[in-house]
Formats: sequence, structure tokens, C-alpha cells
Amino acid sequence: MGDLRFDGKVVLVTGAGAGLGKVYAIEFAKRGAYVVVNDLGSTPGGVGKSAKVADQVVEEIQRNGGKAVANYDSVEFGAKLVQTALDNFGKIDVVINNAGILRDRSFARMTEQEWDLILKIHLKGSFSVTKAAWDHMKKQGYGRIIMTSSPSGIYGNFGQSNYSAAKMGLVGFANTLALEGQKYGIHVNTIAPTAWTRLTESLMPPSSEKELRPEYIMPLVVYLCHDSCTENGGLFDLGGGLISKLRWQRTKGAVLREIGRDMRPEDVKEHWSTITDFSEAYSLKTNTESSMKTAEAIARIQSGDNDLGSNHPIRPNVAK
Ligand code: NAI
Repeated sequence: MGDLRFDGKVVLVTGAGAGLGKVYAIEFAKRGAYVVVNDLGSTPGGVGKSAKVADQVVEEIQRNGGKAVANYDSVEFGAKLVQTALDNFGKIDVVINNAGILRDRSFARMTEQEWDLILKIHLKGSFSVTKAAWDHMKKQGYGRIIMTSSPSGIYGNFGQSNYSAAKMGLVGFANTLALEGQKYGIHVNTIAPTAWTRLTESLMPPSSEKELRPEYIMPLVVYLCHDSCTENGGLFDLGGGLISKLRWQRTKGAVLREIGRDMRPEDVKEHWSTITDFSEAYSLKTNTESSMKTAEAIARIQSGDNDLGSNHPIRPNVAK
């Protein structure tokens, strides 16, 4: 199997001055891409600004014979980042939304400013950069976009309600972009990585540094962005060398409505174990499939079939 090359492709990596983004930027350049190395150069908490980190990555790429240019704007100003790609390389093919910060605090103590800042950098920042690139990708009939979510969003994590909300927001954002981009050759996929970086080093034991290297996240990101990859709308949980794809499951559920009777909270209580029973769970791929399930249930109700059981109490019909 040949190497996955990116010759002639223009790749924008946000937050590429450190951690995961740096590893991506260097790898894309090694594989022939023209790379925009964006980094504001802030602290993990989002304070300050420095051109140094992006410059260092650009220098490293150039030293190795690659092509890269730095951009120091915050991802809030996505048009400036994309303009750097257009000015220097004439187009934009790949966007890796990666820049990020943390403002961890228990929800009871979290301020509105801490909430807003995290949503602004992660969710609005990814919107802003993607929005600026979208029309160019549409016109050229090609694009690859990565959103960076987090296990903290998918599973929750103490002290990260702001971050979790932003990271799950990105999953929903990507779900719709994947649908809207498909016919223009734009693929949008989301990763939920675990890696030892300056962002997470205080949360992890030192021994994880060598087992959770950003280099173990990079291969999936590079593959998802390659011409040959047809994946679109995927969500991947990965770290330490393991790569898994995620999907939603729903239970078979229970139909608790009957013509001529009210549907009551007591019905829900009585049938709770069926509603939450995953033994016959299945996955749906689209919103339409979900609506079909609702339609099937309505058809069952109309034909007198439901899951209430034969011995449920007679109740007066007060529904109008
Ligand atoms: P990092 O702190 O090593 O790198 C993030 C980079 O983003 C920094 O160089 C920083 O200067 C830059 N940055 C911050 N705000 C910026 C802004 N407004 N505009 C442009 N650049 C900005 O962190 P790491 O771990 O490499 O994180 C990368 C992404 O992966 C983040 O979105 C993070 O939330 C996500 N992530 C990381 C996990 C991990 O285990 N390391 C876990 C789950 C998600």
C-alpha cells in the first residue's frame, strides 16, 4: 500500500503550535502538503498571546524541506486564518479545527464568563474557521474538515460542564455539515482524542506521557483527511494506539399510547424497565429513520397495538 500523500493540498491546522496540532502540521508537511500553522500562543487557560510557538513549528517544517506559513490570529477570526491560506497557497483543502483551552471549575462555581469563553473558542471558533473555508471548498468540489471533540463531552467529566457542552456541540455541528457537504465532496469527521499534552499533563500521571503520545492520534486525522478516505460524519474515540468509532444506540422502547385513553406519567413508571432495556437496542443512521420509527409507532397505536399490556387500569380520557 502506498504512502498517503498530500502533494499540492493546502492544510490549515488551528492551534498547531503545540500538542496535537503541532504533530498534525509536521506530518501533513512531511507528506507534501502546504500547511498553515495557526496558533495564538496562549496559555492552556487562554491567557496571553505569542507568535513564538507557531513560528517554531513553521521553522521545523521548513528545516525538513516542507512548506508552511504561520498565522497568529485567534480562531474566533476564522476569515483571517483562511485568508492566510489563500494569500500564500491560493486555496484551502483541509481544515483541522484543533485549537483549544480549558477553564475547569465545578458547575456550582463556574462563572458565565468561563462558560462563554470556552464556547467561544471551541464551538464558535470552529464555526468561524469552517464558515470561512466552506464556500471555497464548495466551489472546488472538495474539502476535508476535522472537528475536535472530547471524551469529556461524550461521557461527561467533573469540572468541565463548559468544555463538555462545547465539545458535544461540535459533534452536532459536524453531523449536519457532513450532510450538507456530501454532495460537494466535503467530508466532516470528529475525533475525541486522549493524549498527553500541556493541556492534560496536570490531569494525568507522568507515566502516561509515553503511552498517550499525540503521535498516536495523528494517523487517524491524516487518514480522514486523505482523498482516498470516504468516511463522512464519523465520530472516533481514540488514544494510546486504540481507534474506535462511536454511534448512538436506542432501545426498542415501549409504545404507551392507546386511542381513547390519556397517556400518563404512571405509564412511564410502570414500563420504565422496557423503555430503558438495551437488550434489543439498535442504531439509526439518519433523522428520517428516527421519524420512521415514530410513524411506525403511530401506525401500531391506530391499529390498536401497543405495549401497555392487557391488565392496565381503565383510565378516563381527558385529552382534548
Ligand atoms: P495544547 O494546549 O497542547 O495545544 C493547543 C494549542 O491551541 C496551543 O498551542 C494554544 O496556544 C492554541 N490556542 C489556544 N487558543 C487558541 C485560539 N483562540 N486561537 C488559536 N490557537 C489557540 O492542547 P492539545 O491537548 O494539543 O489540544 C488540542 C485539541 O484537542 C483541543 O481542542 C483540546 O480541547 C482537544 N482535546 C485534547 C485532549 C487531550 O487529551 N490532550 C482530550 C480531548 C480533547
